[in-house]
Amino acid sequence: MMLTASRTLLSAAACALLPVMGLAQSWSDQPVDPAKHQGEFDAAYDDDGIYYNADDIVTYNVQDDGTVDWPTFSGFRRYHAECHVCHGPDGEGSTYAPKIKNSAVHMGYYEFYDVVVNGRKNGNSVMPHFGDNPNVMCYLNDIYVYLAARGMEAVPRGRPGKKEPKSDLVREMEDACMG
Ligand code: HEC
Repeated sequence: MMLTASRTLLSAAACALLPVMGLAQSWSDQPVDPAKHQGEFDAAYDDDGIYYNADDIVTYNVQDDGTVDWPTFSGFRRYHAECHVCHGPDGEGSTYAPKIKNSAVHMGYYEFYDVVVNGRKNGNSVMPHFGDNPNVMCYLNDIYVYLAARGMEAVPRGRPGKKEPKSDLVREMEDACMG
């Protein structure tokens, strides 16, 4: 009996420690093995220039000649307007903020979205919340697919050279979102 009780206590203590240890290591520190994640980013279908994986989550699409989908190009621009100041050019990270091209791959869409909407604080390290900023929220899918493409090494550093045109659907969604 005594043994069982102390074992239970021990495992409860170990569980309580886990979240703390989890915070100490950011996703951005974990290298990305593109081969391992490819299935999550394979485009299964597109809706007027917006690409989705088999789970209906937005993804990027890069053609053989390097032409990127419009959202990836848009994400490149929005990232460099809103996030680059802290996270460095091309999602590469800085001494101040993590390498979020890796985070986008490891965290997945929902966790990534949640951090950007709500922000996060870890001592003096502060990620602002953007949930009330239309310049970020109306383009967050774009920013996500751009960073995922960077993390997966599907697009090189710098401004994408060739891009698909902006579709009517993208234009309508943008107008509706920006008001
Ligand atoms: C004022 C500086 C600043 C700006 C601007 C900023 N971030 Fe951050 N961000 C941070 C810091 C610092 C962290 C690390 C927070 C922590 O230690 O928990 C972070 C963390 C994150 C994370 C979690 C990374 C991980 O591996 O856990 C994501 C995702 C993220 N930021 C996305 C964005 C996006 C997208 C934008 C632009 C819309 C953005 N950030 C703009 C400072 C910033």
